[in-house]
Amino acid sequence: MAITIKTAEQIEKMRIAGKLAASVLEMIEPHVKTGVTTGYLDQLCHSYIVEKLNAIPAPLNYNGFPKSICTSINNVVCHGIPGEKKLKKGDIINIDITVIKDGFHGDTSKMFLIGKTSVKARRICKVAHECLLIGIEKVKPGIHLGEIGRAIGAHAKAKDCAVVRDYCGHGIGLGFHEMPQVIHYDDGKVNRSPILEQGMTFTIEPMINLGGFEVITSKLDGWTVTTKDRSLSAQWEHTILVTKNGYEILTLRKDELIS
Ligand code: MF3
Ligand code: CO
Ligand code: CO
Repeated sequence: MAITIKTAEQIEKMRIAGKLAASVLEMIEPHVKTGVTTGYLDQLCHSYIVEKLNAIPAPLNYNGFPKSICTSINNVVCHGIPGEKKLKKGDIINIDITVIKDGFHGDTSKMFLIGKTSVKARRICKVAHECLLIGIEKVKPGIHLGEIGRAIGAHAKAKDCAVVRDYCGHGIGLGFHEMPQVIHYDDGKVNRSPILEQGMTFTIEPMINLGGFEVITSKLDGWTVTTKDRSLSAQWEHTILVTKNGYEILTLRKDELIS
């Protein structure tokens, strides 16, 4: 399946889906604190998405994923399954939300810091956020898709952090994971990667580790991805539209407008 160019009508639906996904992160923020279980956060998000937004939580039953959101704590890179685990002071947690509205997907995630965190924890969250923004700022028609990853990889390297290679961003629209794959490092094929065009929509979602880039997937649940060296990992994600002159962040939150 080739990269789809969204029509004006489809872009309007992507804007709505993106806004709704962002609103879930805004809604959950005050609940993300010491003592709450990730399962409780999942329940709150599930009810909000289904009842308030009249939307569908895309992860639920996606390739057998058992919950409505992903919650990835500390050395968990991505795809953490909500459950009985309680958040504790010093934890960092990524909450990843994908909603489907009127057929279209909006996909976004952010890090939350629980109480007083270590210098290392704050650092990896900050570097991962910088990586996301540096990637987004590259987006405009005419560039190679691979330039996004090259910029992200260079920044991570400058900060002595590693970019996860086994998972990438993705085209998004009627499908959750469409073409193209958005790689977050320099794979040496930048000049052979697709040229961005107005109307493309994709995610940028760098996973950045304090230690090495290698990850392992849990043999117990088949989902939870952790750093091989147990180092901390952080991730931020936005759904992006390529516009005439640059980009539009479809999943922008209110707290991001100020900065
Ligand atoms: N939201 C994730 C992404 O950014 C995908 C989660 S798939 C799931 O692409 F099955 F784990 F939910
Ligand atoms: Co995504
Ligand atoms: Co996501």
